[in-house]
Amino acid sequence: MKNIFLTVFFIVTNSFAHQIENFSSKPVLASLQDLQDINAPIWASDKTTGVAFTYLTPELQFQLQSQSHRKGKCGGFEVLPPTEAFDMNSILKEFEKLKKIHLKNQADLKGPVQFKTIQHQAFIEEALSRVQATQLQEMITWLSSFKSRNEMSKEPNAHVIQMKNKAEAWLQTWPGKWKSELIDHTSTKQKSLKITLLGQTKPDEIIVLGGHHDSTSYWGGNSGAPGADDNASGSSNLLEILRVLTEQKPSERTIEFMWYAAEESGLLGSAEIAKTYQSQKKDVIAVLQLDMTSYPGSGEMTIANITDFTTPWLHDLMKQLNQLYVGLKIVDDECGYACSDHASWYRQGYSTVVPFESTSEKMNPDIHSTADVVSPQLSFRHSAAITQLSLAFALELANSEQRSF
Ligand code: BES
Ligand code: ZN
Repeated sequence: MKNIFLTVFFIVTNSFAHQIENFSSKPVLASLQDLQDINAPIWASDKTTGVAFTYLTPELQFQLQSQSHRKGKCGGFEVLPPTEAFDMNSILKEFEKLKKIHLKNQADLKGPVQFKTIQHQAFIEEALSRVQATQLQEMITWLSSFKSRNEMSKEPNAHVIQMKNKAEAWLQTWPGKWKSELIDHTSTKQKSLKITLLGQTKPDEIIVLGGHHDSTSYWGGNSGAPGADDNASGSSNLLEILRVLTEQKPSERTIEFMWYAAEESGLLGSAEIAKTYQSQKKDVIAVLQLDMTSYPGSGEMTIANITDFTTPWLHDLMKQLNQLYVGLKIVDDECGYACSDHASWYRQGYSTVVPFESTSEKMNPDIHSTADVVSPQLSFRHSAAITQLSLAFALELANSEQRSF
């Protein structure tokens, strides 16, 4: 009955939706609570997951993000492709899928969610010692020197092509098999960059390490969007992990690096990629997201483990790895639905994990502004520790006998 009501409601109002579309509103999934707080119209919602569907006008988008950021929270949203957004049945199906994943994770939390107890491995320790904070400083400074890396900027792919060239130069002497690709998207002119290090014995089993390469600024126009912390930091961490891995022997499983396009416009790049992977039934074991790693708001060497829309067994693995190799203080925290690209993968049923620079409350207050630049407020040591943790994650999972808990 509820479904019928929603479907009828949708058909009646669908033409209205098209009209709203003309005023550049976007069909999105976002946190129900956040949307209610800004009095956005709720078209459908799911109470279990706390996720709702609405059309977001530019004004509502601004309110959603600025209000959330003022409260020290994220104002995430995921733009749905037209194929999903113009049929209420598929939206309800998406809610059902999301609910299933959510309930499974909640059930896991009540039982044993431990990855096997892992052992210290000398080759991982050795690789971690090669991570250099000075390399990160150099790369964050370089990426944030582009006037803007936004998808709507004059040259949205200039930095992407340079990142690709840099990565390919490191890979020239690596003995393993590798691939480097620019991924085109239907929803944005910006391209995602993917570098694949093929696994030797289990090439079809994939570990994804990702982060968004775009930046944004509320002020738009010509003022620029340096995005040093958000997210030159995560993009640079990925480059540094790749650089170190090109000095190691190939792993058993495949490691894919993804620099996603247009996250700041509603997870556009990652949503397309995760959906394609799911439809191709790709065997992705885990997805780690690096988005903001250089502002030590909760204190240097204290980071957050984002617990919502991420996967319990990966929380456990990350904490075990931290104890063995890095020694950070890790605090559990939430960031709301679709605060970053891991949500795209989570919605497709993949396991995700997000090590974040601080608790959300203490995160960098300068993001999305011209003030998000390299400054003494950023700590490359902090960012290097998150890089080490992520590298340990990749090496453990890509070489372990075990592949889940
Ligand atoms: N890096 C930020 C926020 C963030 C916070 C990511 C905590 C991961 C953990 C991200 O790029 C961002 O600005 N997200 C937006 C939503 C996005 C869909 C535009 C936000 O949270 O407001
Ligand atoms: Zn970000």
